[in-house]
Amino acid sequence: MVQIVKLLYGLQFTLSHCWSVQLDARPDRIMNNTYKGSPELLRDFWENRSVSFEKDYGIRQKGIVKLVEKTAKLIEDKNVLEVGCGPGIVASYYPPTSDMVGVDFSSSMLKLAKKRIRKLVLGDALSLPFRTGVFEVLTCYFMASDYAAKENIFAEAFRVLEAGGVFLYADYSPEDEHWKLRRQILPALGQSCDINIEEDREIAEKLKHTGFSIVETNLIRFNAEFRLERYLKSRNEIQKLKEANLNLWKALKTRLENGKIEREFLLLISRK
Ligand SMILES: C[S@@+](CC[C@H](N)C(=O)[O-])C[C@H]1O[C@@H](n2cnc3c(N)ncnc32)[C@H](O)[C@@H]1O
Repeated sequence: MVQIVKLLYGLQFTLSHCWSVQLDARPDRIMNNTYKGSPELLRDFWENRSVSFEKDYGIRQKGIVKLVEKTAKLIEDKNVLEVGCGPGIVASYYPPTSDMVGVDFSSSMLKLAKKRIRKLVLGDALSLPFRTGVFEVLTCYFMASDYAAKENIFAEAFRVLEAGGVFLYADYSPEDEHWKLRRQILPALGQSCDINIEEDREIAEKLKHTGFSIVETNLIRFNAEFRLERYLKSRNEIQKLKEANLNLWKALKTRLENGKIEREFLLLISRK
Protein backbone atom coordinates (compact mmCIF):
# COMPACT_ATOMS: atom_id res chain seq x y z
CA MET A 1 0.00 0.00 0.00
CA VAL A 2 1.30 3.41 -0.89
CA GLN A 3 1.29 5.76 2.03
CA ILE A 4 1.94 9.45 1.55
CA VAL A 5 4.15 10.97 4.20
CA LYS A 6 4.32 14.72 4.57
CA LEU A 7 7.29 16.07 6.45
CA LEU A 8 8.58 19.54 7.12
CA TYR A 9 9.41 21.85 4.23
CA GLY A 10 6.51 20.49 2.17
CA LEU A 11 8.39 17.31 1.45
CA GLN A 12 6.31 14.49 0.08
CA PHE A 13 7.47 11.01 -0.67
CA THR A 14 5.90 7.59 -0.67
CA LEU A 15 6.98 4.89 1.73
CA SER A 16 7.06 2.38 -1.09
CA HIS A 17 9.77 4.52 -2.70
CA CYS A 18 11.92 4.71 0.39
CA TRP A 19 14.86 2.81 -1.08
CA SER A 20 14.55 3.58 -4.75
CA VAL A 21 14.10 6.81 -6.65
CA GLN A 22 12.91 7.26 -10.20
CA LEU A 23 15.49 9.37 -12.02
CA ASP A 24 14.14 12.18 -14.10
CA ALA A 25 14.01 11.14 -17.77
CA ARG A 26 13.50 14.59 -19.35
CA PRO A 27 15.62 15.06 -22.51
CA ASP A 28 17.75 17.78 -20.89
CA ARG A 29 18.44 15.34 -18.07
CA ILE A 30 19.61 12.64 -20.46
CA MET A 31 21.89 15.11 -22.24
CA ASN A 32 23.38 16.02 -18.89
CA ASN A 33 26.45 13.83 -19.24
CA THR A 34 27.58 12.40 -15.96
CA TYR A 35 30.86 11.04 -14.73
CA LYS A 36 29.76 7.50 -15.59
CA GLY A 37 27.83 8.33 -18.77
CA SER A 38 24.26 8.10 -17.47
CA PRO A 39 22.41 9.01 -14.25
CA GLU A 40 21.63 5.34 -13.61
CA LEU A 41 25.27 4.25 -14.00
CA LEU A 42 26.38 7.10 -11.78
CA ARG A 43 23.90 6.07 -9.10
CA ASP A 44 25.05 2.44 -9.32
CA PHE A 45 28.62 3.67 -8.97
CA TRP A 46 27.83 5.51 -5.72
CA GLU A 47 25.64 2.65 -4.44
CA ASN A 48 28.73 0.44 -4.58
CA ARG A 49 31.16 3.06 -3.32
CA SER A 50 29.53 4.25 -0.11
CA VAL A 51 31.64 2.21 2.31
CA SER A 52 34.99 2.95 0.64
CA PHE A 53 34.07 6.63 0.21
CA GLU A 54 33.28 6.89 3.94
CA LYS A 55 36.53 5.14 4.91
CA ASP A 56 38.55 7.38 2.60
CA TYR A 57 37.57 10.71 4.07
CA GLY A 58 41.14 11.20 5.37
CA ILE A 59 42.23 12.40 1.93
CA ARG A 60 39.78 15.34 2.27
CA GLN A 61 39.61 15.79 6.04
CA LYS A 62 41.85 18.86 6.48
CA GLY A 63 40.01 20.59 3.64
CA ILE A 64 36.61 19.72 5.12
CA VAL A 65 37.67 21.23 8.46
CA LYS A 66 38.63 24.47 6.67
CA LEU A 67 35.43 24.44 4.62
CA VAL A 68 33.33 24.07 7.76
CA GLU A 69 35.28 26.83 9.55
CA LYS A 70 34.56 29.21 6.67
CA THR A 71 30.85 28.40 6.43
CA ALA A 72 29.67 27.43 9.94
CA LYS A 73 28.42 30.94 10.79
CA LEU A 74 26.25 30.98 7.66
CA ILE A 75 24.34 27.83 8.55
CA GLU A 76 24.02 28.47 12.29
CA ASP A 77 20.38 28.13 13.44
CA LYS A 78 19.17 27.86 9.84
CA ASN A 79 17.18 25.18 8.03
CA VAL A 80 19.70 23.65 5.67
CA LEU A 81 19.41 21.22 2.79
CA GLU A 82 22.57 19.25 2.01
CA VAL A 83 22.26 18.01 -1.58
CA GLY A 84 24.29 14.89 -2.37
CA CYS A 85 25.02 14.45 1.34
CA GLY A 86 26.70 11.05 0.84
CA PRO A 87 27.56 9.42 4.20
CA GLY A 88 27.05 12.76 5.97
CA ILE A 89 30.68 13.36 6.87
CA VAL A 90 30.74 17.08 6.07
CA ALA A 91 27.46 17.57 7.98
CA SER A 92 28.99 15.87 11.02
CA TYR A 93 31.71 18.56 11.21
CA TYR A 94 29.16 21.38 11.60
CA PRO A 95 28.00 22.33 15.11
CA PRO A 96 24.54 20.80 15.64
CA THR A 97 22.74 24.15 15.79
CA SER A 98 21.06 23.97 12.41
CA ASP A 99 18.08 22.00 11.20
CA MET A 100 19.77 19.84 8.59
CA VAL A 101 18.10 17.70 5.92
CA GLY A 102 20.30 15.44 3.78
CA VAL A 103 19.24 14.32 0.32
CA ASP A 104 21.01 11.76 -1.86
CA PHE A 105 19.95 9.41 -4.67
CA SER A 106 21.97 6.50 -3.26
CA SER A 107 20.25 4.44 -0.57
CA SER A 108 23.54 2.90 0.59
CA MET A 109 24.93 6.40 1.19
CA LEU A 110 21.83 7.30 3.20
CA LYS A 111 22.16 4.17 5.33
CA LEU A 112 25.63 5.37 6.38
CA ALA A 113 24.42 8.96 6.82
CA LYS A 114 21.79 7.85 9.38
CA LYS A 115 24.33 8.05 12.20
CA ARG A 116 25.23 11.66 11.28
CA ILE A 117 22.11 13.38 9.88
CA ARG A 118 18.71 13.04 11.55
CA LYS A 119 16.51 13.94 8.56
CA LEU A 120 17.29 12.11 5.35
CA VAL A 121 15.49 11.91 2.04
CA LEU A 122 16.13 9.70 -0.95
CA GLY A 123 15.88 12.06 -3.90
CA ASP A 124 17.41 13.42 -7.06
CA ALA A 125 19.35 16.71 -7.06
CA LEU A 126 17.97 17.42 -10.53
CA SER A 127 14.37 17.13 -9.40
CA LEU A 128 14.34 17.84 -5.67
CA PRO A 129 11.30 16.51 -3.78
CA PHE A 130 10.69 19.82 -1.99
CA ARG A 131 8.45 22.80 -2.51
CA THR A 132 9.73 26.09 -3.84
CA GLY A 133 11.44 28.56 -1.47
CA VAL A 134 11.52 26.46 1.71
CA PHE A 135 15.21 26.37 2.72
CA GLU A 136 17.36 29.15 4.16
CA VAL A 137 20.64 27.50 3.15
CA LEU A 138 21.54 24.85 0.61
CA THR A 139 24.91 23.10 0.40
CA CYS A 140 26.24 21.16 -2.57
CA TYR A 141 29.64 19.68 -1.75
CA PHE A 142 31.74 17.52 -4.07
CA MET A 143 28.75 16.37 -6.08
CA ALA A 144 28.54 18.63 -9.12
CA SER A 145 31.90 17.48 -10.54
CA ASP A 146 30.00 14.30 -11.42
CA TYR A 147 28.10 16.40 -13.98
CA ALA A 148 29.05 18.24 -17.16
CA ALA A 149 25.93 20.41 -17.06
CA LYS A 150 25.86 21.82 -13.56
CA GLU A 151 23.14 24.35 -14.46
CA ASN A 152 20.39 21.79 -13.84
CA ILE A 153 21.63 21.26 -10.28
CA PHE A 154 21.90 25.02 -9.71
CA ALA A 155 18.38 25.63 -11.06
CA GLU A 156 16.89 23.19 -8.54
CA ALA A 157 18.97 24.68 -5.72
CA PHE A 158 17.67 28.14 -6.70
CA ARG A 159 14.08 26.92 -6.76
CA VAL A 160 14.00 25.40 -3.26
CA LEU A 161 15.89 28.28 -1.59
CA GLU A 162 13.92 31.16 -0.10
CA ALA A 163 14.58 34.71 -1.40
CA GLY A 164 17.95 35.82 0.00
CA GLY A 165 18.82 32.18 0.82
CA VAL A 166 22.48 31.13 0.81
CA PHE A 167 23.94 28.61 -1.60
CA LEU A 168 27.24 27.02 -0.51
CA TYR A 169 29.07 25.23 -3.28
CA ALA A 170 32.34 23.32 -2.88
CA ASP A 171 34.22 21.04 -5.22
CA TYR A 172 37.70 20.10 -6.42
CA SER A 173 39.65 22.89 -8.10
CA PRO A 174 41.44 22.34 -11.43
CA GLU A 175 44.68 22.82 -9.44
CA ASP A 176 43.94 19.91 -7.11
CA GLU A 177 47.05 17.77 -7.54
CA HIS A 178 45.30 14.48 -6.80
CA TRP A 179 42.78 14.87 -9.61
CA LYS A 180 45.44 16.30 -11.90
CA LEU A 181 47.39 13.05 -11.48
CA ARG A 182 44.36 10.80 -11.86
CA ARG A 183 43.25 12.61 -14.99
CA GLN A 184 46.60 11.79 -16.60
CA ILE A 185 47.10 8.29 -15.19
CA LEU A 186 43.71 6.74 -15.92
CA PRO A 187 43.76 7.47 -19.69
CA ALA A 188 47.35 6.15 -19.83
CA LEU A 189 45.97 2.88 -18.40
CA GLY A 190 43.19 2.86 -21.00
CA GLN A 191 40.54 3.86 -18.47
CA SER A 192 38.25 6.87 -18.66
CA CYS A 193 38.38 9.77 -16.23
CA ASP A 194 35.66 12.18 -17.23
CA ILE A 195 35.22 14.00 -13.94
CA ASN A 196 34.00 17.51 -14.73
CA ILE A 197 36.18 19.84 -12.70
CA GLU A 198 35.73 23.52 -13.57
CA GLU A 199 37.43 26.82 -12.75
CA ASP A 200 35.84 29.06 -10.12
CA ARG A 201 35.14 31.62 -12.89
CA GLU A 202 33.14 29.08 -14.90
CA ILE A 203 31.14 27.98 -11.84
CA ALA A 204 30.49 31.62 -10.90
CA GLU A 205 29.20 32.36 -14.42
CA LYS A 206 26.81 29.41 -14.24
CA LEU A 207 25.58 30.47 -10.81
CA LYS A 208 25.00 34.04 -12.03
CA HIS A 209 23.19 32.73 -15.09
CA THR A 210 20.87 30.77 -12.78
CA GLY A 211 20.07 33.98 -10.87
CA PHE A 212 22.46 33.78 -7.90
CA SER A 213 24.61 36.72 -6.77
CA ILE A 214 28.15 35.73 -5.91
CA VAL A 215 29.13 36.78 -2.39
CA GLU A 216 32.59 35.27 -2.14
CA THR A 217 34.94 32.80 -3.82
CA ASN A 218 37.57 30.94 -1.79
CA LEU A 219 40.37 28.51 -2.51
CA ILE A 220 40.91 25.98 0.25
CA ARG A 221 44.45 24.60 0.24
CA PHE A 222 45.80 21.72 2.31
CA ASN A 223 47.85 18.60 1.84
CA ALA A 224 47.13 14.91 2.25
CA GLU A 225 49.04 11.67 2.22
CA PHE A 226 48.45 9.37 -0.74
CA ARG A 227 49.91 5.95 -1.40
CA LEU A 228 50.93 4.54 -4.76
CA GLU A 229 48.07 2.00 -4.61
CA ARG A 230 45.62 4.89 -4.86
CA TYR A 231 46.77 5.46 -8.43
CA LEU A 232 48.05 2.05 -9.53
CA LYS A 233 46.31 -1.03 -8.17
CA SER A 234 48.66 -3.80 -9.35
CA ARG A 235 52.11 -4.58 -10.79
CA ASN A 236 50.36 -4.91 -14.10
CA GLU A 237 49.11 -1.32 -13.91
CA ILE A 238 52.57 -0.07 -12.90
CA GLN A 239 54.05 -1.81 -15.93
CA LYS A 240 51.31 -0.45 -18.17
CA LEU A 241 51.93 3.13 -17.02
CA LYS A 242 55.70 2.75 -17.49
CA GLU A 243 55.13 1.56 -21.04
CA ALA A 244 52.51 4.19 -21.85
CA ASN A 245 54.19 7.21 -20.24
CA LEU A 246 57.51 6.67 -18.48
CA ASN A 247 57.86 10.35 -17.54
CA LEU A 248 54.48 10.32 -15.84
CA TRP A 249 55.45 7.19 -13.88
CA LYS A 250 58.71 8.84 -12.76
CA ALA A 251 56.92 12.05 -11.84
CA LEU A 252 54.32 10.13 -9.82
CA LYS A 253 56.97 8.14 -7.95
CA THR A 254 59.03 11.22 -7.14
CA ARG A 255 55.92 13.11 -6.05
CA LEU A 256 54.83 10.36 -3.66
CA GLU A 257 58.34 9.85 -2.25
CA ASN A 258 58.93 13.56 -1.69
CA GLY A 259 55.91 14.29 0.38
CA LYS A 260 52.23 14.99 0.49
CA ILE A 261 49.93 15.76 -2.39
CA GLU A 262 48.80 19.40 -2.56
CA ARG A 263 45.05 19.62 -2.57
CA GLU A 264 42.82 22.54 -3.53
CA PHE A 265 39.06 22.93 -3.15
CA LEU A 266 36.85 25.70 -4.49
CA LEU A 267 34.24 27.26 -2.25
CA LEU A 268 31.68 29.64 -3.74
CA ILE A 269 29.20 31.44 -1.52
CA SER A 270 26.23 32.94 -3.31
CA ARG A 271 22.74 34.24 -2.56
CA LYS A 272 19.37 33.90 -4.25
C1 LIG B 1 31.58 12.65 -3.93
S1 LIG B 1 30.13 12.23 -3.01
C2 LIG B 1 30.07 13.64 -1.90
C3 LIG B 1 29.30 13.36 -0.64
C4 LIG B 1 29.29 14.53 0.38
N1 LIG B 1 28.72 15.73 -0.18
C5 LIG B 1 30.70 14.79 0.86
O1 LIG B 1 31.31 15.78 0.44
O2 LIG B 1 31.20 13.98 1.65
C6 LIG B 1 28.84 12.62 -4.18
C7 LIG B 1 27.46 12.26 -3.64
O3 LIG B 1 26.48 12.84 -4.49
C8 LIG B 1 25.45 11.91 -4.69
N2 LIG B 1 24.77 12.26 -5.96
C9 LIG B 1 25.30 12.32 -7.21
N3 LIG B 1 24.36 12.68 -8.10
C10 LIG B 1 23.22 12.87 -7.40
C11 LIG B 1 21.90 13.25 -7.76
N4 LIG B 1 21.55 13.49 -9.01
N5 LIG B 1 20.98 13.34 -6.78
C12 LIG B 1 21.28 13.07 -5.50
N6 LIG B 1 22.50 12.69 -5.08
C13 LIG B 1 23.47 12.61 -6.03
C14 LIG B 1 26.15 10.56 -4.72
O4 LIG B 1 25.26 9.50 -4.44
C15 LIG B 1 27.19 10.76 -3.63
O5 LIG B 1 26.69 10.40 -2.37
